[in-house]
Amino acid sequence: MESFDAIVLGAGGAGLMASAVAGQRGRRVVVVDHAPEPGRKILISGGGRCNFTNLGTAPDRYLSANPHFAKSALGRYTAGDFLEMVERHGIAWHEKTLGQLFCDGSARQIVAMLLDECAAGAVAMRLGAAIRDVSHADGRFTVVHGDATLTAPALVIATGGPSIPKLGATGFAYDLARKFGLKVVEPRPALVPLTLPPEEALFRSLSGVATEVVARCGKAAFREAALFTHRGLSGPAILQVSSYWRHRDAIGIDFLPDQDAGWLLEAKRTRPRAGLRTVLSTALPDRLAEALAERLAVVGELGNQRDATLRDAEQRLGDWRFVPNGSEGFAKAEVTVGGIATEGLSSRTMAARHLPGLYVVGEAMDVTGWLGGYNFQWAWASGWAAGQAL
Ligand code: FDA
Repeated sequence: MESFDAIVLGAGGAGLMASAVAGQRGRRVVVVDHAPEPGRKILISGGGRCNFTNLGTAPDRYLSANPHFAKSALGRYTAGDFLEMVERHGIAWHEKTLGQLFCDGSARQIVAMLLDECAAGAVAMRLGAAIRDVSHADGRFTVVHGDATLTAPALVIATGGPSIPKLGATGFAYDLARKFGLKVVEPRPALVPLTLPPEEALFRSLSGVATEVVARCGKAAFREAALFTHRGLSGPAILQVSSYWRHRDAIGIDFLPDQDAGWLLEAKRTRPRAGLRTVLSTALPDRLAEALAERLAVVGELGNQRDATLRDAEQRLGDWRFVPNGSEGFAKAEVTVGGIATEGLSSRTMAARHLPGLYVVGEAMDVTGWLGGYNFQWAWASGWAAGQAL
């Protein structure tokens, strides 16, 4: 039996951050994982360059049953704080778009940085073996990891969500939460491509075509690229709205976000001999223009169309309704919406209210960011908050 001040389950971004912070505060910390290497999701993130934070980080860019929960941690450990660490480690970075910060080099640099920070706190690292049991008695947690038995008065659940199981992701955090009396908000795949039903085959045949749109689901709206795939819809705008999407909801797409109201009637006046497809082709990829014109069944020259027909076509082009029949699921989802309910946790320390010594950090809990570095910022901020309290 080996004794520590804290056992951190999960060597992802949140677990490594919590471990490094607590270790550097003099706590004896061990981090355990079933994966043979730490930070696997960091390594594959951002196309291998890790979109490690977002300068626009704000609580309203996170989904949670309690939209106020993330405020405290995000306010105390900001994108600027993480950037300061990145720069201290000499990692070159750039802003790509919309406040998204990426490494110039490789995501490996972020993992190396976190491991250096853990080493500075003398954090013990135990990887590559299954966690066989987790129990709590007499104010101590005991973890059986491979052949080792570890014990500590504090336990941090940092095992993430079930997105991308082939990287070692599991719903283990939820099993632990239920075991220790915390509620779980139904987990759903998020930041995930959506699939279209057979009657939308026309659009599925556009596989590979991308264009900038405004995608909407309920009150959420995102202006970014949408991509048609052989199964349905993807691209950043679709991934963003997928986090808000529930079965049977419609997704609304504005294919022409830069056009002013009445543009199609204006086109009838200025280009009466042109057809709808030709006019659409000036703003959209050809294949998409053709598919939309075909669906709208506006045949012939604009000059011969009734104004009402064109008004109706313009309205549909500005709010094209797709009702996806599903998503590509946890196998393809970048993150998980839902998770361990925040109602049982302190927003300042991430500690469970009813069980002293138990903490939850990162994606395991019901806090999910937009696409664009927000999820890592939550991993860092929640890990930092717990690390300060351990
Ligand atoms: P994370 O999932 O990273 O870590 C959990 C750890 O627990 C893993 O090491 C895992 O092996 C371990 N574990 C799980 N179950 C276990 C079990 N039963 N026993 C033992 N160990 C177990 N975000 C962002 O902000 N910018 C980006 O660029 C990207 N890009 C991106 C790309 C792809 C393809 C994916 C899948 C995800 C992203 N993300 C992202 C999301 C981001 O990766 C994610 O939100 C964080 O990694 C969450 O960090 P955590 O530490 O909470 O969990």
